Amino acid sequence: MEKLRIEGPSRLEGIIRASGAKNAALPILAASLLTDDPLTLKNLPAVRDIRTMIRLLEHLGVGHTESDDAITFLVGGNGKADDAPYDLVKTMRASVLVLGPLLARRGHARVSLPGGCAIGVRPVDLHLSGLEALGAEVRLEKGYIDARCDQLRGARFRFAHRTVGGTENLLMAASLAKGTTVLENCACEPEIEDLAALLNAMGAQIRGAGTESIEIQGVGSLHGTEHSVIADRIEAGTYLIGAAMTRGDVTVRGLRPKDLKPLTTKLIDVGAEVTTGDGSIRVRCSETLQPSSIVTEPHPGFPTDLQAQYTAMMTQASGRSSVSETVFENRFQHVPELARMGADIRVERGTYAKVKGVTPLSGARVMATDLRASACLVLAGLVADGETIVDRIYHLDRGYEKIESKLRTLGARVERISD
Ligand code: EPZ
Repeated sequence: MEKLRIEGPSRLEGIIRASGAKNAALPILAASLLTDDPLTLKNLPAVRDIRTMIRLLEHLGVGHTESDDAITFLVGGNGKADDAPYDLVKTMRASVLVLGPLLARRGHARVSLPGGCAIGVRPVDLHLSGLEALGAEVRLEKGYIDARCDQLRGARFRFAHRTVGGTENLLMAASLAKGTTVLENCACEPEIEDLAALLNAMGAQIRGAGTESIEIQGVGSLHGTEHSVIADRIEAGTYLIGAAMTRGDVTVRGLRPKDLKPLTTKLIDVGAEVTTGDGSIRVRCSETLQPSSIVTEPHPGFPTDLQAQYTAMMTQASGRSSVSETVFENRFQHVPELARMGADIRVERGTYAKVKGVTPLSGARVMATDLRASACLVLAGLVADGETIVDRIYHLDRGYEKIESKLRTLGARVERISD
């Protein structure tokens, strides 16, 4: 089992480039099912979840060829399975994103229910009710979603609450439905905009992506295209929080600063100096951090995927702050591990944390439970005095490309070890 060994304290300083966004790439990969033409994608991050999705696409009859900076996907002539098996879906919930494209393109999809994960139950009821609104017949049996429809039809559908994956599944399904679909109360994340940009480049007619209301004029077919995935705002935000926590000076290039506005606003609140350039953000901090509370919300609110990292940062702020997690029901599993390093955090009702700082952190052996919790523990290890060993870093490898080389570029003393 691989681990990360981190020697602290250290100060992050230097320039790195953001990788492509895992959470934009996953639905965009699923969109390769919507056409029989070649789909060429660039800036895909070399992370485990992308490899898992490519394996699932192979199972569904989508082959691929790799060049030095792109991967081209093409639906094969035969072997078009239309089922996403449990052993693949259980390793990555985002596999459910093949549901909409399979249904729209092949009229049938059998996808294992994703099941829960460390951060919550994570149902897909809103995906299913949306597809039913487009005319799909959906049954649940033996842990699988079985959805059928010869021709999806446009409809008006309002999501009961914001769902990124639900919006993405419906965008892809509605692109090939007959007639017009209007989706209300949609997720507004930048990754939704990137998916819509890809679909429109394939010939879809989507307007309003990135806002709460999206209109899709169904078309008869979609053609291939070439698309470069947007930068990963969560990866970039993780390093920028690291800059503030370690009183460093980090510039992240290759991103869209506006996507990180919810974070950069808070970094200024806590006393960091933030400079945004053309495609880059620089964070410097030399003073002790000030406490500032957050409430996680769907975009453009503070992103839940940066909550754990922000909570770790608040242990180094001089005073009390609170972190309210409103998106997932169990996303404070990093707190007991931070406490073992010396943090003083009280979690109430599972969704509200009170942080008291400044608490000096000492290196310890800690265990990652999910992708962003593991990132938070790495950041804590950078600040802590002594050696920190982060175990179960397969969680990290799901969403952080070349993390140890990026951290070493910034001056961290970190290495990957295995027992
Ligand atoms: C996406 O997950 C991201 N994953 C998550 O990032 C991110 O935390 C989340 O959006 C919120 O921003 C990918 O894009 C691959 P949701 P998703 O549907 O689509 C509930 C990471 O660390 N819900 O917006 O699964 C759900 O339980 C990952 O990169 C329903 O109740 O999130 C949650 O409480 C973690 N019914 C809330 O809505 C549904 O049908 C938001 O979920 C769907 C969701």
